[in-house]
Amino acid sequence: MPAPAPSLPAAFVRDLQAAFAAGSILTAREDVIPYGFDGTAALKQLPGVVVFPKDAAGVSTVLKLARTHRVPVVSRGSGTGLSGGSVPVPGCVVLCLADMNRILELDAKNLTLAAEPGVITQRIYDAADAAGLFYPPDPGSMKISTIGGNVAENAGGLRGLKYGVTRNYVMGLEVVLADGSIVTLGNKCVKDVAGYNLRDLFIGSEGTLGVITRVLLRLLPKPGARQTLLATYASMDAAAETVSAIIAEKIIPCTLEFLDQRTLRCVEAFAKVGLPTEAEALLLIETDGHPAAVADEASRIERICTQHQALAVRRAASAEEGVRLATARRSAFSALARLRPTTILEDATVPRSELARMIRFINETAQKHRVEVATFGHFGDGNLHPTFLTDERNPEEMHRVEAAMKEIFDYALSLGGTLTGEHGVGLAKKAYLPQQLGDATMSLLRTIKRSLDPDGLLNPGKIFD
Ligand code: LAC
Ligand code: ZN
Repeated sequence: MPAPAPSLPAAFVRDLQAAFAAGSILTAREDVIPYGFDGTAALKQLPGVVVFPKDAAGVSTVLKLARTHRVPVVSRGSGTGLSGGSVPVPGCVVLCLADMNRILELDAKNLTLAAEPGVITQRIYDAADAAGLFYPPDPGSMKISTIGGNVAENAGGLRGLKYGVTRNYVMGLEVVLADGSIVTLGNKCVKDVAGYNLRDLFIGSEGTLGVITRVLLRLLPKPGARQTLLATYASMDAAAETVSAIIAEKIIPCTLEFLDQRTLRCVEAFAKVGLPTEAEALLLIETDGHPAAVADEASRIERICTQHQALAVRRAASAEEGVRLATARRSAFSALARLRPTTILEDATVPRSELARMIRFINETAQKHRVEVATFGHFGDGNLHPTFLTDERNPEEMHRVEAAMKEIFDYALSLGGTLTGEHGVGLAKKAYLPQQLGDATMSLLRTIKRSLDPDGLLNPGKIFD
């Protein structure tokens, strides 16, 4: 059970109740409990009140009242984040954008889609797909995550290798600033260099600089064909070498995912899609594009896998099977979460050339500290998900997990990597951030934060103190 919230100023709650319909506010302890955590293990805090605005004007009202009464504001959507970005801070109002869930426009002439922040990511994909278009970013949680949260965390996904991350598909944003004013950043123009690029400042800002109330997304034509392949390996090194070889042959697959044996078995037990569970390592590869290019790339990938000691290479028999396999892979986190009470999933990322070394280090470190780790991830991006299977009720074990985690972060940084490839810093990684960024950059972050949020009320204590 999360800790009780320090009480909010009664006048703030009264003002909120005057401004919003009763159905748009939760104050009872049992009602606010579900808003006390996100997808991140072992982090929780009861909010004082939860409010569900219906539009940007409602968000502006909340921010103005919060400023008057000096109440911290934590915005959130579905709360699928994995770095504690939307975990409440003591005595805060949670601004839940789930009711702002309309797709506003699909503009087939300009290849854009405008939506409110509470739209589920999968709905964006489906709306584009129905129009013969394509929204590439596909975070593992896309069936339940919201687009506003994806933008606020700059979420990645399985198609990052070829298509990039959420940032690459945001053309415009409407943002409510700390003083309640509403700004529009970006537009439908493919090119626009008027002024500083403030839109990009808000992407990945984790709710610390403003509240996103509208997104304008870039869409692509839907690829004409897709082919999914599975390659199994007796050693992780051989799988890592295959990845380097595919890239060195100048093939950029859409998806190049890795699952270690523990993850593989767990995903198969959960999703039952016929994954070969005897292998030490599995690569899930997808190529997409013009049918002729896809056929050519699939054959070349198959050959490269075989040349690099794949035990077997299998092509998905149909597009539907390809979708089933990718969906099973997207369930990896949920599947692993069934094994132990607490699942701590990291997303340390290294230059691709360092992958094999990084995975070996993760396995050695897990052994040394006697902790259980399953690793999967976006191999093509160098983005790994070492996942600690543990129990937060056991302080001694948690101590060992934390020691192992610190060594993994240190090692990733020593290889020229980053603490987080796609999940954000939030609460979970802020202690390590200065080590990655250095004093001058940290000071620049603080200067930006102070100028946009002078009272320090927007998601305080996230990313940095
Ligand atoms: C994934 C999430 C956990 O890759 O990032 O499934
Ligand atoms: Zn991921």
